[in-house]
Amino acid sequence: MTENDALLKATGIIKRFPGVTALSAVDFQLNPGEIHCLMGENGAGKSTLIKVLTGVEQPDAGEVFLTGRRISPKSPQQAQELGISTVYQEVNLCPNLSVAENIFIGREPIRFGSIHWQRINRRSAELLAKLNLHIDVTQPLERYSVAVQQMVAIARALDISAKVLILDEPTSSLDAQEVEMLFKVMQQLKQEGLGIIFVTHFIEQVYAISDRITVLRNGELVGVYETALLPKVQLIAKMIGKEFDGSAEGTNMAGKAMQKNDGNAYLTVKGLGRQGSIQPFDMNINKGEVLGLVGLLGSGRTEMARMIFGIDQADTGEIFVKGQKVKVNSPAAAIRCGIGFCPENRKTEGIIETLTVRENMILALQVKLGWMKYIPRKKQEEIAAKYIELLNIKTFGPDQVVRTLSGGNQQKVILARWLLTEPELLILDEPTRGIDVGTKVEIQKLILSLANDGMSVVFISSELDESIRCCQRMAVLRDRKKIAELTGKEIEEKFVMQTIAEVQ
Ligand SMILES: Nc1ncnc2c1ncn2[C@@H]1O[C@H](COP(=O)(O)OP(=O)(O)OP(=O)(O)O)[C@@H](O)[C@H]1O
Ligand SMILES: [Mg+2]
Repeated sequence: MTENDALLKATGIIKRFPGVTALSAVDFQLNPGEIHCLMGENGAGKSTLIKVLTGVEQPDAGEVFLTGRRISPKSPQQAQELGISTVYQEVNLCPNLSVAENIFIGREPIRFGSIHWQRINRRSAELLAKLNLHIDVTQPLERYSVAVQQMVAIARALDISAKVLILDEPTSSLDAQEVEMLFKVMQQLKQEGLGIIFVTHFIEQVYAISDRITVLRNGELVGVYETALLPKVQLIAKMIGKEFDGSAEGTNMAGKAMQKNDGNAYLTVKGLGRQGSIQPFDMNINKGEVLGLVGLLGSGRTEMARMIFGIDQADTGEIFVKGQKVKVNSPAAAIRCGIGFCPENRKTEGIIETLTVRENMILALQVKLGWMKYIPRKKQEEIAAKYIELLNIKTFGPDQVVRTLSGGNQQKVILARWLLTEPELLILDEPTRGIDVGTKVEIQKLILSLANDGMSVVFISSELDESIRCCQRMAVLRDRKKIAELTGKEIEEKFVMQTIAEVQ
């Protein structure tokens, strides 16, 4: 494939933001029929490059060519009309409209002055069938899983005539089966000659699906590689700019660490349940223990966590903190009991985009202290500086508006918000989602060291290897019911998977 055959080509792209050069003279090339991964640490510039290619951001310098023709899209709509479509992790469709309406929103076919519903529904069903998805397109989109919603977004993109499909971290909230389904569709589109740009922090997925990899670091192009010729450790080394210490990977660090699990329950839950959400369950969490909640997506992990934190009200059961019966009927009540909860969906439940890093960080602490005890500005700044350093957050300072941080760095801000309240029990729902490989290990180590210092942790992760690495004990959930508890040698990949899937 020569340069001239490129489907999409960008040369010398420069993009500066106040305080940071997000892209410094980056070249990029995508060929037709190619799946190309864009890799790099949090804040490396991946999303910014995509935004430049799709007209969300205008570059300060550089040129973009589509099939040899210079283009400079001024908006995502324009880019889409040209043939470049993007599907983001947080699908921006309308949840309460039907599947078909979502596919045709803004471009509804009109007949006799009104919207031609029959045609919309028929065409939508056909489009989705092409992606091997057979669902009722007249149902509201929100009835379906994130995976299905993503397929709907892809169907929409393809129907507006895509030559280039861009997927920015689409797999973060998909389970293994759903990822497989997405990959099948990607392969199919590749056969049809589409070029696909794929961003993910899951190294395994990169090797399962991509033809080539472009690595960025600190806004600079590190290199372009054939996936098959680049060993994984080298990829990681190129991303982080030094040899990768993967020694922690694959082992159960929790077992090795000298955790101060003294067998005394910090939290005891008896018969806690909520109709239509989760069946009554018992659970103990000891001081200094990392307890994993494992199960498939939708098995009830998040529901369990939300109830313990008082977001959803239980309709049966009791909660005891250090043996004392407590009433946790709101998050504020939970915080006062010493409980913290870092939610999985940072966009809707966590980050306040218009506030600064500092303001986002101190929120939970301020709630804990009460609004009458205002934390002095100087103290806030100290706290923020400490956690920026501790979690290696890429920002030019505590007063940067969070919206302008990269996705993974926003995730770290949320994590900081809860860590700094120094909770006695911290519930972490997918704490490393969207976080790059290097930092992921750092965060896992941090969680274990906090447990070592006596903090209790409820750990929820869709990545089984991560749970295996961090947890001393696991509660297994299936179909919104706690079905087993595992400890010691039982915490081993094959056995955990069998228990989750009930193949014994
Ligand atoms: N609107 C903006 N204003 C200021 N800085 C910005 C803006 N958008 C992005 N940045 C900065 O540009 C850099 C690159 O961010 P980008 O979102 O491209 O990273 P990324 O590689 O996608 O990271 P992640 O893996 O965390 O998603 C970061 O330092 C980020 O803070
Ligand atoms: Mg990003």
